[in-house]
Parts: sequence; structure tokens; C-alpha cells
Amino acid sequence: MTNLEFNGHLHKVSHPFISDRLTQMRDVKTPSAIFRKNLQEIATFLTYEALADIPLEARVVETPMQLSKQPCLPNLAPALVSILRAGNAMVDGALALSRNSPVGMIGLKRNEETLEPEDYFLRLPDQLNSRMTLVCDPMLATGGSLIRAIDILKQANATQIRVVCLLAAPEGVKKVLSVHQDIHIWTAALDDHLDDKGYIVPGLGDAGDRIYGT
Ligand code: PRP
Ligand code: URA
Repeated sequence: MTNLEFNGHLHKVSHPFISDRLTQMRDVKTPSAIFRKNLQEIATFLTYEALADIPLEARVVETPMQLSKQPCLPNLAPALVSILRAGNAMVDGALALSRNSPVGMIGLKRNEETLEPEDYFLRLPDQLNSRMTLVCDPMLATGGSLIRAIDILKQANATQIRVVCLLAAPEGVKKVLSVHQDIHIWTAALDDHLDDKGYIVPGLGDAGDRIYGT
């Protein structure tokens, strides 16, 4: 499946530093501490790409030489929204760049029988209609959780929604982009397929369990 089928809305971020960290994360023997650290670092790289076109504002600074008008980040920083639990490690990586971002959390747990997401927590930043929103979740599998999260964000008036995920399955990307055609997704890898339990293959297993050692 090529990106052409996703109308240019799926952005694969490729870099040797990302590939090597991701390979370590796929390894079943990698301990949680390294898994978490790598996820956080890859999230920083993905955020760097996903927010590359934030419109800049300008302010006057006094350099040692003179007053000078220079670019600066907008007053209303992009909102970062974690899909709990696994999204939290990615938010930490995104905050390393977007330091003034407010953080929201959407608690969703995929029911492993039906594969449908179930809501259990919601806390969102304000002014979502005036700022960019970056959704963080490492795994895009069937796409059910992400579709639900975007539904919730749109109900809260978010207009410019972007997504960073570590791994995506083609089936999930297709589903998300068919329901929410305005969304852009940045990922470190587009894997082969989903297995019959909705797990990404080759994947890395259950991201939440591997992050938190459960
Ligand atoms: C994982 C992952 C996504 C979801 C992806 O979370 O972090 O949120 O599954 O699956 P989907 O695309 O098929 O909806 P999970 O529901 O296992 O919760 P957890 O982070 O608490 O482990
Ligand atoms: N959620 C995960 O954590 N991993 C998968 O492979 C699919 C859903």
C-alpha cells in the first residue's frame, strides 16, 4: 500500500536514529526503561516534523547590538493530547520541543473482545478552535481508538488536528482517513497488517504493557 492511497495524509518520518530505536523497541527482550526512553525520543523527532509549519509570530528583541524584530512561536501553543495510557510517553517527547503546550488526556481502552474503544477519562485544554492539536498515541491498529479520540476533539471544537504515532497498520490508517479526511498522520513505520486479534504485525506487542511493565 502506498502513501498515494492515503492522498498524501500519511507522512512517514525516516531517519537512521529513528529506525534503530524502533528496532530496539520491537525486540521482545528490550526492557521497559529503554522502550520508554526510545518512544519518548522518537516522539520528539515525529513532533519536529508534524509541527514544522506552525505559523510563526514576531516580537522585538534587544540584541547586544540593537532592537530587532525576530520570529517566535505563537502565543497559543499547539495542544498536545495523549490517548491514555500509552500516549503519555509520547507527550513527554513532544513537550521537549513544544514547551509551552497545554496537555489534554483522553482515556480510551480497547475492549479486546470487540476491539471497540471504551472511554474512561477526559480532560482537554481550552481554545481548541484557535490552536493546533497534536494527538499522541504510539499504536494505530484498527483505528477505532483514534477515530473516537478525533470525534471527541471535534466535539470540543478542535479544528486543526494532527496525529503522531510510532507504528501504523494500513487497515487502521485507511479507516481513520476515510472517516476523518482532514487529518494528517506522522508515523515512524507503516507495518504489514493486523492479526486476527487486532495486533499490528510485525509490531511490538502491547505498547502500554511494554511502557509500564504490566
Ligand atoms: C492501544 C494503543 C491505542 C490502541 C490502538 O491502547 O495505545 O490507543 O490500543 O488500537 P486500535 O487502533 O485498534 O483502537 P489500549 O487500548 O491497549 O490501552 P492502553 O494504552 O491503556 O494499553
Ligand atoms: N495496541 C497495541 O498496543 N498494540 C497493537 O499491536 C495493537 C493495539
